Amino acid sequence: MSESIQSLLESVSKENRSFPPTPEFAEKARVRSMEEYEAEYQRSIDDPEAYWAEIASELHWFKPWDRVLNEDEKPFFKWFEGGKTNLAYNCIDRHIENGDRNKAALIWEGEPGDSRVLTYFDLYREVNQFANALKKLGVGKGDRVALYLPMIPELAIATLACARIGAVHTVIFAGFSSNSIRDRVLDCGARCVITADGGWRRGQILNLKSIVDEAVEGVDCIQEVIVVKRGHGDPFPCRIKEGRDHWYHRIVQDQSIHCEPEQLDSEDMLFLLYTSGTTGKPKGIIHTVGGYMVYAYQTTKVVFDMRKEDVYWCTADIGWITGHSYILYGPLQNAASVVMYEGAPNSPDNGRFWDIVEKYGVTIFYTAPTAIRAFMKWGEKWPNAKDLSSLRLLGTVGEPINPEAWIWYHKVIGADRCPIVDTWWQTETGGILLSPLPGATPTKPGSATLPLFGIDAAVLDDEGNEQKAGILAIRKPWPGILRGIYGDPQRFKDTYWCKWNGEYYFPGDGARTDEDDYFWILGRVDDVVNVSGHRIGTAELESVFIEHPSVAESAVIGVAHEIKGQGLVAFITVRENATADEKLEKELKDLVIKSIGKFAVPEKLIFSGDLPKTRSGKIMRRLLRDIAEGKALGNVTTLADPSVVETLRKKYQEQ
Ligand code: WT7
Repeated sequence: MSESIQSLLESVSKENRSFPPTPEFAEKARVRSMEEYEAEYQRSIDDPEAYWAEIASELHWFKPWDRVLNEDEKPFFKWFEGGKTNLAYNCIDRHIENGDRNKAALIWEGEPGDSRVLTYFDLYREVNQFANALKKLGVGKGDRVALYLPMIPELAIATLACARIGAVHTVIFAGFSSNSIRDRVLDCGARCVITADGGWRRGQILNLKSIVDEAVEGVDCIQEVIVVKRGHGDPFPCRIKEGRDHWYHRIVQDQSIHCEPEQLDSEDMLFLLYTSGTTGKPKGIIHTVGGYMVYAYQTTKVVFDMRKEDVYWCTADIGWITGHSYILYGPLQNAASVVMYEGAPNSPDNGRFWDIVEKYGVTIFYTAPTAIRAFMKWGEKWPNAKDLSSLRLLGTVGEPINPEAWIWYHKVIGADRCPIVDTWWQTETGGILLSPLPGATPTKPGSATLPLFGIDAAVLDDEGNEQKAGILAIRKPWPGILRGIYGDPQRFKDTYWCKWNGEYYFPGDGARTDEDDYFWILGRVDDVVNVSGHRIGTAELESVFIEHPSVAESAVIGVAHEIKGQGLVAFITVRENATADEKLEKELKDLVIKSIGKFAVPEKLIFSGDLPKTRSGKIMRRLLRDIAEGKALGNVTTLADPSVVETLRKKYQEQ
């Protein structure tokens, strides 16, 4: 067993409690028992093509596919080849035709307390008008469009408008810096950025437009910047660059409310989403229209047991994959009413989320363990002060959930009545792969339980033998799997298909299975750290520090953190003529904010004379982790200079 798996395993407690679904829930559920789950699962594994064809035919296709799965150029899989469809059409028009024209589609709550409800027909009009405005500017099929917006309705509208005309959207989370925007825009050659002149966060307005101005300065591929009016000119007057910048409200006002949906090939690109990996450069994950559409639709339907009567709230930001698949594309395809909230959970006070649940009668609530731990810390009095009786199902995503947080969520938010779905997946997987089905699977706190339909998961060692604890692997391709890394097919193969002779997809997570074959995710086995559910590559941060003239070398590690799941610690050695002082620390933190964003600033910066290295010069991160977590130190005999560790440990304790 590899060292990293061993240390991940040590951090997981033995948890045996089991919570079967209540009979009341199971009775009405889409999948009502383990027998039903097992039968459908077996069918999906025995004949995946028949299974996925059946699911896909519940959606609208302009032209049916010729072939369900083409594996000829593995790992470049193709799903529903020859089929023509449109995801925005399936999210909106299909429901209008079914008589749900005036049913609430988006229920939006702004941080300052303003709100807007858009019915499916409102969404139809707004999406089409903006789609027509984009077309008028010359944006069309295949063009890349970057979105850098707060969580306002226009973010949903613009994303869907891109999908309608076949433009490839790349949503950039509004916490990223101008340098990060620039990197992404250049990597994909975006021609257009959509932003806003403001966005609310904890009572403050963020000046997104000026961050975009800085990002696209001198970037030739950018032809248009579209600006949504959300601020009020105060404190940031918005500068409009003639010829390049357009106010959103002006360009949509005279547009027709109808826009023919582009008939897209299944394998046309739908979107790019950048995520961190093991090297310094984020990768543009490619998802295509047909397979992603079917997978988001089906997983939402079964995991969240979703009906059109549901008022569903996922607290993620659309800037992450969770927001793509489970705020927009999955729930809208299922005709749900989707709550979208602009701001922070503690604005104006710690009860804001529960206000929203009560106000809109939310039935399904999906959030992250880091948020649950923050709620626990704030105390029961906040949720207890509100009527949460509308809730029927709870979900969690983004990182392993500790049993203590799970139990609190179940009791305090779910009143011991709502099932909890712990959903494991990734940007690359497009949708959920491991999760309980709420009406069938007995849940265990901390376990993502079992694979969904069509997912053939295993825990393997480096050689590909099945193990009780090891590395998570997925054998068969599923429709939502990433199709590549933008502009870098080699990296795609090297990252995901190098292990086990390309027979399995390698997600980069450690896992174990228990006596019921339940999966327990242990955390990343690569150099990716999960801070509050945000993925940060240690190499990415290290390359930021190295840019500073005073820094000689750095090593960044993830350490256990009470609220965030993992926190970042950076060990830094400075050049001979430089001084390691508070001024340098501040400069380095500012550099991270400028290069990536505030959320990537390490908890601790430790200046040290040297770093523990092997005789061949490799930094021993495991020892750095032991030091940071105050653990007994493992084997140090392979170190070039064993005294380095003792010095570092003293230094760490002093901080
Ligand atoms: C990584 C993917 C998938 C949406 C949010 C994050 C970790 C995700 C769980 C879970 C344990 C989880 C994994 C994974 N992760 N969900 N339920 N239990 N770990 O997407 O940024 O692509 O990160 O998040 O380590 O590899 P992402």
